[in-house]
Amino acid sequence: MSAQFGEERPLVLIVDADEINQLTVEQILDGGVEIVQKHSGSEAMEFLEKTTVDLALLDQNLPDMTGLDVLKSMKQREEMWNVPVIIMTGDVDMELETEVFRTGAVDFIRKPFVPMALQERVSRVLQNEYLQRNLRKEANRQARLAEERLAASQRLFDETVLALARTIDAKDKYTQGHSQRVAEYARRIAQRSGLDSQRQREIFCIALLHDIGKIGVPNAILNKTSRLTDEEYDVIKSHTTIGANILKSIMEFPKLSMGARSHHERWDGRGYPDGLLETEIPKEARIIAVADAYDAMTSKRSYRDVMAQERVRREIERGRGTQFDPQFADVMLDMMDEDVDFKMRAEEPKNDRSMEE
Ligand SMILES: [Fe+2]
Repeated sequence: MSAQFGEERPLVLIVDADEINQLTVEQILDGGVEIVQKHSGSEAMEFLEKTTVDLALLDQNLPDMTGLDVLKSMKQREEMWNVPVIIMTGDVDMELETEVFRTGAVDFIRKPFVPMALQERVSRVLQNEYLQRNLRKEANRQARLAEERLAASQRLFDETVLALARTIDAKDKYTQGHSQRVAEYARRIAQRSGLDSQRQREIFCIALLHDIGKIGVPNAILNKTSRLTDEEYDVIKSHTTIGANILKSIMEFPKLSMGARSHHERWDGRGYPDGLLETEIPKEARIIAVADAYDAMTSKRSYRDVMAQERVRREIERGRGTQFDPQFADVMLDMMDEDVDFKMRAEEPKNDRSMEE
């Protein structure tokens, strides 16, 4: 019998107070299985608490309880509810037989045993158990594999987004690391505003690519140190729509395109490119707007040095309710107030920082 069940011999628990019955069953099963014998219901339960068996053969007439009682107790215990059980009895009792099946036994065998029939029925149960167990194992393996594949494609996405962000930042020597810092500030604002980790992650990615449209702006204009003409300023402004166009092909994540388009909108409706007002502006873009302004003011520019922290704070406060959504401006002000040693800007973005954080 063992050949059908893989490498290991199945473990069968026989619970019967009668030694002769025990011996008979053992002989019939004929060494193909490993057998453990117990003589009462309580002994059986104690054993099943610690050991997983492939099949339990329970005599109905045990000294301390019935086989059916043992079966009922087994069905209530997580560690043994799915062990297949066969009830054995010498009585002819149709009601019992019905109840045994209703309670979840896989078979009901009458004594005296017909050796071939017992062998066949035990063999079928064990075979079924073996197949089911393999099926469960395979299902778990497939689920693990799918999780690993998902994690790998997630990593690939994260790394690609990061590479793109660095490409944008490399174009403008004064804004090195800008996209990564804005992404980190935006993530923190989202977190402090109570958005869940999924939204935080999304905002991080959207912010990483918010300025991707700068790829379409000539370097001469982007890095110009003298005052921009109106036409040049219009070209700079077009990085929002260029970025939205580049990112709109990523259908799986439409907010990427929206973030690039709307991060220069203003709460008072005087922003660009669409002049959206207050909550017409997508939340992600409202968060990025504050993070973007903070990083711009705390970074050195071609035309000016880093602004003093108090002045940056005053500017954010001044923009509260005009340029910025007051809620997110307040969060940024809180973050600045907690940052007494001005470490927030000083921290260089960690390039390999996981977006999961
Ligand atoms: Fe921008």
